[in-house]
Amino acid sequence: MVDLSVTLSNLKLDNPIIPASGTFGYGLEFKDFYDINILGSFSMKGTTKEERFGNPTPRIAECTSGLINSVGLQNPGIDFVVEKQLPIMKKYFKKPIIANISGFSVDEYKYCAEKIDKQEQVGIIEINISCPNVHNGGMTFGTDVKAAMEVTKAVKAVTTKPVYMKLTPNVTNIVDIAKACEEAGADGISMINTLLGMRIDLKTKKPIIANKMGGFSGPAIFPIALRMVYQVYEAVKIPIIGMGGISTAKDVIEMMLARCNSSTNRKCKFKKSLCM
Ligand SMILES: Cc1cc2nc3c(=O)[nH]c(=O)nc-3n(C[C@H](O)[C@H](O)[C@H](O)COP(=O)(O)O)c2cc1C
Repeated sequence: MVDLSVTLSNLKLDNPIIPASGTFGYGLEFKDFYDINILGSFSMKGTTKEERFGNPTPRIAECTSGLINSVGLQNPGIDFVVEKQLPIMKKYFKKPIIANISGFSVDEYKYCAEKIDKQEQVGIIEINISCPNVHNGGMTFGTDVKAAMEVTKAVKAVTTKPVYMKLTPNVTNIVDIAKACEEAGADGISMINTLLGMRIDLKTKKPIIANKMGGFSGPAIFPIALRMVYQVYEAVKIPIIGMGGISTAKDVIEMMLARCNSSTNRKCKFKKSLCM
């Protein structure tokens, strides 16, 4: 059988297929349809310090080749995830998981990172500094070089596991943010989160989403994600988990090739891993 394994910061995965945070919950809804242990890993739904109901509804709008969501980090809070959710997950997912965490202050990021770091099921900690659906947090940290560095340093100071910073495409230059995270000690980059978008209902003449805007994802954003991964790969030495609109095996290969066309000619040596 072909060896599809990849290594991300010393963590060996059987293959590079990792459902993105928020698109796979805790795997529970999928496990009855197929054996989710065929995945390399998955990134669980973003966790915050406190439980969150999320944004008001409607918070999904369909679009051509994608959707806009404004879920707003609905989750049961870090304590519930650690005490209840992880033990349940352990029964049906036997591989290391990626723990995606979010915060509204540097202290909240630190608090969640420190707690999740102690959990043996967690292979990588993914720090979401890119959520477009919450105010005073999320994307605020991912659109500013200094703030991105501050969160990275703070989280690295309280963790032992690899820390991957999840970047937003809603910036002028994503390379600057990626480089800042690397300089601050990040072990890897996850990219991209959703693009800020909106739809208007022709009948009501009002935005479809209660929060007016949300994050656009799905096949339509693939060329943007690919372009950004290509650019960031040129600029940093740490591994990249690539995502955004990947929906076919060909997309997977194309995303992996984004790193092969590097001008530094580090051709597919698997020194760096790029997963999706
Ligand atoms: C409904 C929904 C919820 C999401 N929740 C999170 C989240 O909690 N944390 C996070 O970092 N990204 C979250 N994302 C962003 C995805 O992880 C991913 O970066 C983005 O959707 C682009 O990939 P895709 O086009 O393959 O969906 C969410 C996306 C969707 C559609």
